[in-house]
Amino acid sequence: MTVTKEQVLAALARVPSPGGTALPDARVLSDVVVSDGKVFFSLTVDAATVKAWEPVREAAEKAVRSIPGVQSALVALTAERSPGSPASGSRPASAPQARQAAHPADKVQPGIPGVDAVVAVASGKGGVGKSTTAVNLALGLRDLGMKVGMLDADIYGPSLPKLLAIKEKPETIGGTRLKPIQRYGLTVMSIGFLIDEETPMIWRGPMVMSAITQMLREVEWGKLDIMVVDMPPGTGDAQLTMAQQVPLKGAVIVSTPQDLALIDARRGVSMFKRVNVPVLGVVENMSYFLCPSCGTRSDIFAHGGARHEAERLGVPFLGEVPLHMTIREKSDAGLPVVATAPDSEHARIYRDIASKVLAQLKGGAGGKAAPKIVIEA
Ligand SMILES: Nc1ncnc2c1ncn2[C@@H]1O[C@H](COP(=O)(O)OP(=O)(O)O)[C@@H](O)[C@H]1O
Ligand SMILES: [Mg+2]
Repeated sequence: MTVTKEQVLAALARVPSPGGTALPDARVLSDVVVSDGKVFFSLTVDAATVKAWEPVREAAEKAVRSIPGVQSALVALTAERSPGSPASGSRPASAPQARQAAHPADKVQPGIPGVDAVVAVASGKGGVGKSTTAVNLALGLRDLGMKVGMLDADIYGPSLPKLLAIKEKPETIGGTRLKPIQRYGLTVMSIGFLIDEETPMIWRGPMVMSAITQMLREVEWGKLDIMVVDMPPGTGDAQLTMAQQVPLKGAVIVSTPQDLALIDARRGVSMFKRVNVPVLGVVENMSYFLCPSCGTRSDIFAHGGARHEAERLGVPFLGEVPLHMTIREKSDAGLPVVATAPDSEHARIYRDIASKVLAQLKGGAGGKAAPKIVIEA
């Protein structure tokens, strides 16, 4: 039985919006995508009215699910801040508010209960080793005595299930909250657990904010010193929105040494600066090639580019990770080097990066003045 878009719209016509108008007439509905009995669409509403819309979102899902032939329905609620409306409900209404509302950089997100600091690992483009760095950085922080969580927010290619060899799905607690997975002493949650691989890419965008909110707020993270977030690569709207929605204490940018990657890294640095998230530093990944058989080092990508770029941009340089077969093999087998070869030189490099990040978070050390933490988590 084929489900049509018209059937979906007809079902939605029976769902009233908070103002009373039928949902299809409320000017909030995105295009409706129907694929193989799966229905996706989003409701874009003013951020100030999100609470009132949540029951409507649920009713819309229910209405669509009751159409014969529909296997699943996913309705995302996306908040859109209307010009001039308050940036966040948690900010008291005061005189500077108008200026703050007009300036996206002043957006303040409420923290995650129990989580002391959220750190983003980001890159200007994909495939530079962002996830590998994020995992080993998290493990390095663990080795420094921190209680660490990892959130895989990379909508384009969630990789923590693979890098940490996680096959199980999170259990729900009391029907609503999710229990994260424990691996190598890390508390882990991945967008891969929530978004079906089959979900068309264009749909991931609109779904992202509700999925991210769910992962931040509806997961039993427990007490964490640091949460490391594997961000989606790039510096476009999706990344910017996420940088604004997640209560970040700082960001680590991963780049390879080539000029092109560095241009993207520069965009990453300016994106976080725009939203007032301090850049904790830049990691140069695949910095130089270490021959696995003879140990000879060669600088195939003009090593050192990221260090110079960091200096130029006035952000700390955190370290160089070599391009090495062991890192790739272990990473892709779900056996990250810091956890499974703690005495290796690679593990030492990652732990060194972790201690620089920690020093930055603790507000000092390491020569350069620590960036001021503007956004409170
Ligand atoms: N330093 C490194 N040496 C060798 N291979 C690496 C290194 N860093 C990452 N890789 C490999 O490169 C590929 C892309 O890395 P990944 O961390 O998934 O990148 P991203 O998250 O930026 O897309 C993976 O196969 C990974 O194992
Ligand atoms: Mg990745």
